[in-house]
Amino acid sequence: MTRTDGHLLDNRQTEAAEHFSAFAALFDPTTFRHLEALGVGSGWRCWEVGAGGPSVVSWLAKRVGPTGRVVATDTDTSRLARGARPPVEVRVHDLGAQDPPGEGFDLVHARLALVHVTDRQRALRSMAGSLRPGGRLLVEDVDPALQPLLCPDEYGPEQQLANRLRHSFRKLLADRGTDLPCGRTLPRLLREAGLTRVHADAYFPLASPACAALESATIRQIRDQLVTAGLATDQDIQRHLINVTSGTLDLTTPPMISAWGRKQ
Ligand SMILES: C[S@@+](CC[C@H](N)C(=O)[O-])C[C@H]1O[C@@H](n2cnc3c(N)ncnc32)[C@H](O)[C@@H]1O
Repeated sequence: MTRTDGHLLDNRQTEAAEHFSAFAALFDPTTFRHLEALGVGSGWRCWEVGAGGPSVVSWLAKRVGPTGRVVATDTDTSRLARGARPPVEVRVHDLGAQDPPGEGFDLVHARLALVHVTDRQRALRSMAGSLRPGGRLLVEDVDPALQPLLCPDEYGPEQQLANRLRHSFRKLLADRGTDLPCGRTLPRLLREAGLTRVHADAYFPLASPACAALESATIRQIRDQLVTAGLATDQDIQRHLINVTSGTLDLTTPPMISAWGRKQ
């Protein structure tokens, strides 16, 4: 498997379900707006790459109906198995290492999946290559360097601690050699993969309860690693988790870049 996050975040851990719910709450409206604009409809054949949880797959399944097809792939399909009935097919698939699970797709969509793959150009070529002529590719990934703060409005010690721990999390990833996602490169990568009519935009919330849920799950998942690496103390983490749960912090995420294009 070609994950670049050093297994910091694992689908089988209990926090994974919280992550997927938070991703859905934060990013599904933007994803669905883009998918609607691309015209996804009855009878479409779709490939949902690195699907993770069921929310996007279920939306696509409703949209394409019984005459359509939704191939949902992931290296870890444990959270997808329950939705595995027509028009959905769930398959174990490694985007970084395997050929596409089909061809002639009308739509290929990947959100927060490309980051796990080392050779992103190859992965994009593979996704683009699986489209029919005229088919659409929508790739969405974050860009932490564009907006690195957890609390952009840093007006007190709680916000300072939050931003310090966010910085520590990034350092932990960097020390493990993780190649952070770089959403801003997606339009170029799509063009290089041969797509035309490429556009992109970005979204991030400035305050949302789902950000608190995401932050709490992330910090609980990596707390031992932060402490072992000397990047935070147990007391820091405990205090931060209380601050996050209090609901008084305006937490945000990195911008989610959505880039889309069409195969000629
Ligand atoms: C951050 S989650 C995003 C899940 C979902 N796309 C979403 O936006 O809610 C990343 C997903 O990519 C999957 N993944 C990691 N490496 C992968 C690979 N090489 N090929 C396919 N999926 C992969 C993980 O198992 C995980 O489900």
